[in-house]
Amino acid sequence: MFANSHTLAGTSVNLNAARFFNLSNTTRIREVAKIELSDRSYLPKVDDPRSDWVASVAVPAFEVLAQAGVEAPNFCSIGTGAGLDALAAIEILNARNVFVTDLHDDVVTLAHENIVNNVANGRKVTVAAGVGDLLSPIIGKNLDLDLLYKNLPNIPMSENENLYDGQTSSTFIKQRGEQIPDFIRRYLDELHYVALRQAFPLLKSGGRALSSIGGRIPLDVIVQIGRNLGYRSQILTFTWKIQSEPAEVIGGYAQWEKQGFGPFRFYSAEVLAETFSAVADVASGAQVRQIELSLFSHEMSATSALAAMSAGVSVGHTVAILESLKP
Ligand SMILES: C[S@@+](CC[C@H](N)C(=O)[O-])C[C@H]1O[C@@H](n2cnc3c(N)ncnc32)[C@H](O)[C@@H]1O
Repeated sequence: MFANSHTLAGTSVNLNAARFFNLSNTTRIREVAKIELSDRSYLPKVDDPRSDWVASVAVPAFEVLAQAGVEAPNFCSIGTGAGLDALAAIEILNARNVFVTDLHDDVVTLAHENIVNNVANGRKVTVAAGVGDLLSPIIGKNLDLDLLYKNLPNIPMSENENLYDGQTSSTFIKQRGEQIPDFIRRYLDELHYVALRQAFPLLKSGGRALSSIGGRIPLDVIVQIGRNLGYRSQILTFTWKIQSEPAEVIGGYAQWEKQGFGPFRFYSAEVLAETFSAVADVASGAQVRQIELSLFSHEMSATSALAAMSAGVSVGHTVAILESLKP
């Protein structure tokens, strides 16, 4: 399905977008997209769409909205990585004015090129990109956003790590100085909270933010992140993923658990596959409480998940898309 070639600048991937996004065809973006990646671009899981965030989490959520008649002419992704989330929004939600941000200039330059170069011939899409923390590149602008998408990391990094090294910023965050409610800090969801707070004035009335949040924390906490900020928030879709970068991520959560944070929730991939098989892997918001309940007796803390992983168990976690509507 994919051809990879290494260039001096980094990696170039030819990706069959229709197959990767599980669509019958594409009309607004090129069917075979050429994606350029730098060492710091979050790497799409090109050979395994089921474990890719855009293919397995963003696309099903965008489709649920599209089936409800939602379009997102003015679209923004915070922390876009390679820019595939924006390409999915162009195809599925008819995004026409697209804005993307990320922390690194090389990542943002390539994301911008990846989006512009893969819009289908004859389609008019304007793309702007900014480098910086969360929404800082667009704060104060009058963008009237219909939809903002974000899939941000959660784990505060230790002092010897550097956010600007390789893929670090895809998993770790630096400690935030902003005022953040204790229940958000306890579950390490600072970055999502701050981003949602910044997004509020940038969204049009009736616009929405979609937050892709690893459900390693209670669903009630996830919903409260948005409600606490004045949004009408609910879980739009609920799915699961095998934990990517497992040693780093589960190990990172286990460290924070030792300091009284969490506890966090992991499951064996086998249990997740079986539980979600009844709902074709992506559950609608209405089914999530029942699924959370069925998974309850199988929960592993990060510390137990680390031990299970060492014993050869494949470990995963749930993923919720939090939909936050601006009244
Ligand atoms: C898990 S990756 C997701 C990439 C892409 N959106 C996707 O869903 O595949 C997280 C992205 O957020 C970016 N990021 C992390 N912290 C950020 C911040 N404070 N401001 C903007 N982007 C950030 C990372 O550099 C990385 O590209």
